[in-house]
Amino acid sequence: MTQIIEACESKTNTTPDFPMGWYSVARSHELQVGEVKRVHAFDRELALYRTRSGVPVLQDAFCPHLGAHLGVEGKVVGESLRCPFHGWRFDTTGKCVEIPYCEEIPERARIRMWPTQEKNGEVYIWFHPENSAPRFELPTLVELDDEHWTAPRYAEFEVPAHVQDIAENSCDPVHFQYVHRQAHTPESTVTVDDDGRILHLRSDMRDTDHPNQLHAKVFQPGLAMVRTTYAPEAQMMVYNSAQPIDRNTTLLRWTLTVRREIEDLAGDEVMKGIIEGLSQDYPIWANKVHKHRPVFCREDKTLVQFRKWVRQFYVDVRDIT
Ligand code: FES
Ligand SMILES: [Fe+2]
Repeated sequence: MTQIIEACESKTNTTPDFPMGWYSVARSHELQVGEVKRVHAFDRELALYRTRSGVPVLQDAFCPHLGAHLGVEGKVVGESLRCPFHGWRFDTTGKCVEIPYCEEIPERARIRMWPTQEKNGEVYIWFHPENSAPRFELPTLVELDDEHWTAPRYAEFEVPAHVQDIAENSCDPVHFQYVHRQAHTPESTVTVDDDGRILHLRSDMRDTDHPNQLHAKVFQPGLAMVRTTYAPEAQMMVYNSAQPIDRNTTLLRWTLTVRREIEDLAGDEVMKGIIEGLSQDYPIWANKVHKHRPVFCREDKTLVQFRKWVRQFYVDVRDIT
């Protein structure tokens, strides 16, 4: 019998498109009133600014006139953005509202806007490959407004991997043993809410210095909350939101808050631990390919569940199967 072995894969030929969802493009405190920034996300150039009334706005970068980048030297004027090249001004709906040297504004003088929301101390945009409106809500990180929890600690990490492959890690308990040097593979279950939307991973981390229960809620590839409970009042929350830069590069934004009771004990240590953990994943991510059709063994149940769940975030499932 002939054995069929898949052809050698390159780093790019099987990488899927970006899954639909909400992705962070900045921390709120990094975008002051009147500030303009260039953003590279989804392999596109974008312009981000905050209007005088405080609203974050995200739009395509290139001016419909002669193509100047509005995120570089563009100026906020009230609730609009002025192009640095010839002064055309665009409002928050993307419509050109002023050409300083011409009374008549061409009908086609508009710019594509992206649905934007500010929450959890971050600015998010909604990505959909066919530009459809948001299909689901952003989660709320309630601990950020709760006095029993500390002020957030932040970390950013740029990873040379596709956003889906990074998310897959949350359903991969075996790699804890091999990559993160834990004594055993933690006992883990993966469940999906009745409506199919949110995936939960629960792990019982017994064999560590500080035994704990971990509950990761994955809202979409690139958006997850992880609660770790050591004792009722010894808990921490890690929130991870991603900015896909291109198909092989993802910027991860981590937000950590812990119960005040354990801040001195765990606050900085945990942050260090997260960075250390990511550094262990890094060489795997940086050198792996995206496996279109992985060969799974019988015990890879949680990975199979992840692959089924993730299909809903693609318009064309041929992209990922
Ligand atoms: S390129 Fe923007 S106004 Fe001319
Ligand atoms: Fe990992």
